[in-house]
Amino acid sequence: MKFSTKIVALGVVTALVAYSWRDTFAPESLQGAKVLVTGASTGIGEQMAYHYARFGAQIVITARRENVLREVVERCLELGAQSAIYIAADMSNTSDPERVVRFAVEELGGLDYLVLNHIGPSPFTMWNGDVEHTRWLMQVNFLSYLQMTSAAMPHLEKSAGSIVVVSSLLGKMCSPFVAPYSATKFSLNGFFGTMQHELAMQRKNVSLTISILGLIDTQSALEKIRGYTDMKAYPASEAALHIIKAGATRQRESFYPLYTYFACLIRDWFPFFRDLVIQNSYNFEP
Ligand SMILES: NC(=O)c1ccc[n+]([C@@H]2O[C@H](COP(=O)([O-])OP(=O)(O)OC[C@H]3O[C@@H](n4cnc5c(N)ncnc54)[C@H](OP(=O)(O)O)[C@@H]3O)[C@@H](O)[C@H]2O)c1
Ligand SMILES: *[C@@H]1O[C@H](CO)[C@@H](O)[C@H](O)[C@H]1NC(C)=O
Ligand SMILES: *[C@@H]1O[C@H](CO)[C@@H](O)[C@H](O)[C@H]1NC(C)=O
Repeated sequence: MKFSTKIVALGVVTALVAYSWRDTFAPESLQGAKVLVTGASTGIGEQMAYHYARFGAQIVITARRENVLREVVERCLELGAQSAIYIAADMSNTSDPERVVRFAVEELGGLDYLVLNHIGPSPFTMWNGDVEHTRWLMQVNFLSYLQMTSAAMPHLEKSAGSIVVVSSLLGKMCSPFVAPYSATKFSLNGFFGTMQHELAMQRKNVSLTISILGLIDTQSALEKIRGYTDMKAYPASEAALHIIKAGATRQRESFYPLYTYFACLIRDWFPFFRDLVIQNSYNFEP
């Protein structure tokens, strides 16, 4: 290839990359938007509630702890939410996912965004043979997402709305100490990845965003990894804003921070070295 051809090719590739990563987010599109955020009492979900509030959305938040939810709602109203209410629910209870969607749709008079973010607590340890915990976690982290999606779908079809699924690099790549959690996140990626195909093939105008996150500095995440690794954790508020923008711009998949994208790209190039790096990034004595 001639040098000038190479330069042109490089220019085209750069332009394509820049085009596909450009920021087309329009904050005013969230003004008055009808949003349901799960797992919004703490962590990334709480931060998402605050961002939606700043954008002037109408918000319903849910989690188990009523007293904490009440405080988050108050803060949302201070920040400029058009409305903010909560419903306490436990996603391990098989009737709660539907109950929450019904409540949100009634209160908001419809739904534009279903933001699925909650996770049940799971220990950061090697698997000890406990199948029951995984069964329970599958209900909380995975099956409840399907129940809520199913209940919300007719309303999202009406509003040409969006589903946002908060997933993890641990739903794309395996790593020690998180087998049940990782299983639930792989399940989400498999299920909702399939659903993206089916929505497109049926020409249904409901967008489905899967957000792949790396390590985020929420209290629950930092407590788990303390002593095991000193990997850098990224700010929850930035992660939350990233997810909201990805949902609002109807992206299929989004990555935060950027290293998660490259990790997924090169995941299968050198499996032996990948696994060596992963295993050596934790302090562990057998
Ligand atoms: N932090 C990270 O490093 C990281 C990395 C990758 C992906 N992610 C993903 O980001 C999302 C948020 O993570 P996070 O770190 O912000 O989590 P978090 O701080 O532990 O928050 C979890 C939320 O889920 C709620 N919850 C827990 N059990 C529940 C249940 N049985 N029913 C209903 N709600 C329940 C909690 O509130 P209550 O206790 O009040 O119920 C809380 O609001 C998750 O999907 C996670 O997988 C996080
Ligand atoms: C689930 O929630 C419903 C309604 O809130 C309640 O009646 C039922 O007892 C709960 N089930 C369990 C197993 O806790
Ligand atoms: C789908 O809905 C979005 C958001 O309302 C809208 O911008 C877009 O034009 C719609 N696309 C089609 C093909 O109808």
